[in-house]
Amino acid sequence: MHISGRLRAARVSGTVRLSQLARALAASGRPVIDLAEGESDFDTPAHVVEAAHAAARAGQTRYTDVAGTAALRAAIAARFRRDHGMAVEASQVVVGNGGKQLIFNALMATLEPGDEVIVPAPFWVSYYDIAGLCGGVPVVVPCDAARGWKLGADALAAAITPRSRWLILNSPGNPTGAVYSAGELRALAEVLRAHPGVAVLSDDIYESIRFDGTPFATMAAVAPDLADRVLTVNGVSKAYAMTGWRIGYAAGPQDLIDAMVKLQGQQTTNASSVGQAAALAALTGPQDFVAAWCAAYARRRDQVAAALAGVPGLRAGRPPGAFYHFLDCQGLIGLQAPGDTTMASDTDLSAFLLEHAGVALVPGSAFGAPGHLRLCFAKSEDALARACAQLAAAVSRLGGPARTDG
Ligand SMILES: Cc1ncc(COP(=O)(O)O)c(C=O)c1O
Repeated sequence: MHISGRLRAARVSGTVRLSQLARALAASGRPVIDLAEGESDFDTPAHVVEAAHAAARAGQTRYTDVAGTAALRAAIAARFRRDHGMAVEASQVVVGNGGKQLIFNALMATLEPGDEVIVPAPFWVSYYDIAGLCGGVPVVVPCDAARGWKLGADALAAAITPRSRWLILNSPGNPTGAVYSAGELRALAEVLRAHPGVAVLSDDIYESIRFDGTPFATMAAVAPDLADRVLTVNGVSKAYAMTGWRIGYAAGPQDLIDAMVKLQGQQTTNASSVGQAAALAALTGPQDFVAAWCAAYARRRDQVAAALAGVPGLRAGRPPGAFYHFLDCQGLIGLQAPGDTTMASDTDLSAFLLEHAGVALVPGSAFGAPGHLRLCFAKSEDALARACAQLAAAVSRLGGPARTDG
């Protein structure tokens, strides 16, 4: 079968690939600790599962409006108004099969061939390939660890061209956990005011996962004068441990939302009716467990950082949000594994660690930042302790003249 050039040019998602490798190893009888996949080990709260059950029993088993049920769209709009003071009506909300579908549809609905999408790096793997699949050109703007992995106004201004159509922001960010302050967003907004053709896709999927009192800010709230070109994407996957339910949502200018709904109507129609009932329960029900989960993630973040502190060549930071360590492994690049295989890249290293430590981590190059490994710490303390011990043992088997112990 002929496979389109567009698809052939896309990469398989680095996180999905690693998780598949980990599952294949596990299926062959080798125990693997999967810290590659970006999802929490907590279960979807019981009241959410119960709401889905009740909805199915009550006959909510048919197509819904393409854009989502009226109740869910109203609840989402109310939340945007309450939490961030955003002027969002229910008609400006579209519910889809995960945030990923909404990002895809936003770009598919708006990009002409060759239009540019500004993607600050490190970036979530899918932005790059979705932009390409939709006929756009991802323009990667590297951001420094020393500047908290965040895009500065100067770098944004330098990246904008007459073909720029979107800037993608993700805070708290995957893979680095970086969180933009309101001031930092205001500085970016100031640049954008001079470029009315550039829209902002604000991916807030990790909004509720923040540590150490780090405040949350989002572009549509910080710069309401730009709201007619800001699409805010969010969902229940990360906040409520609901990755399998596939419910995400987006709010933005009416013409864009209408276009996304039109596209979704020719694609998947609505998101699952039962999933939407579950999402409604998650968004409107008790929220106290969210803080308790964040406290657990913060403890696990610190547990991993402490356990890896003694591993030469692997450095963990203190991310303020999301649930990933973006480990600096540059000190291990160039070393040799027993049998003389050289760790020429983070990809080699991640393959070595999967094989010899039994731990799946995603190479930073998948996120546009070679020399790093992403470790998801939303896993049990026991799994994290074993993973760190196994990583330390495997790393100690690397040697050679290139070792810098960085
Ligand atoms: C930054 C970011 N955005 C969006 C998504 C998509 O999440 P979902 O499609 O499950 O809503 C993910 C999932 O890993 C993510 O990390």
